[in-house]
Amino acid sequence: MSGNKTLTMIKPTAFAKNYTGKIIDKIIEGGFRIVAMKMTKLTKDQAKLFYKVHQDKPFYNDLVTFMSSGPIVAAILEKENAVEAWRHYIGATNPEKAAPGTIRNLYGTSLQANAVHGSDSDENAEIEAAFFFSQLERF
Ligand code: CMP
Repeated sequence: MSGNKTLTMIKPTAFAKNYTGKIIDKIIEGGFRIVAMKMTKLTKDQAKLFYKVHQDKPFYNDLVTFMSSGPIVAAILEKENAVEAWRHYIGATNPEKAAPGTIRNLYGTSLQANAVHGSDSDENAEIEAAFFFSQLERF
């Protein structure tokens, strides 16, 4: 059975370009309920931990440096089949390949600075939600 929660982050470049408000509008337009949300800045060690699953990939170090380079907004989103629904809604990982009108197509500037993160499984959504939020911070 698929879960109903996913974890997103508005990445440093999208935040710096002041796309946060527009992305939150898109979240709501897409029928996702914001269960928790916070602005924060990851340390390098936190970014390393968050993206640990990619530690053997060639882009890992650059990704960690980028994700700890400036403020981000993390949020838990709720919807039926949330992980898959959110991944479909934001578009392909590479903004150049993301369908027109998707968040990554509209606000992403590169594979790394692809505007927003999306959990890739229910299991990782749980782990990632717990990474940012305690039970008391979820509504
Ligand atoms: P995200 O959804 O945050 O999950 C892992 C991130 O790694 C992904 O978005 C991209 O920003 C980044 N990524 C994935 N593949 C590559 C790649 N080939 N080169 C650089 N960055 C990548």
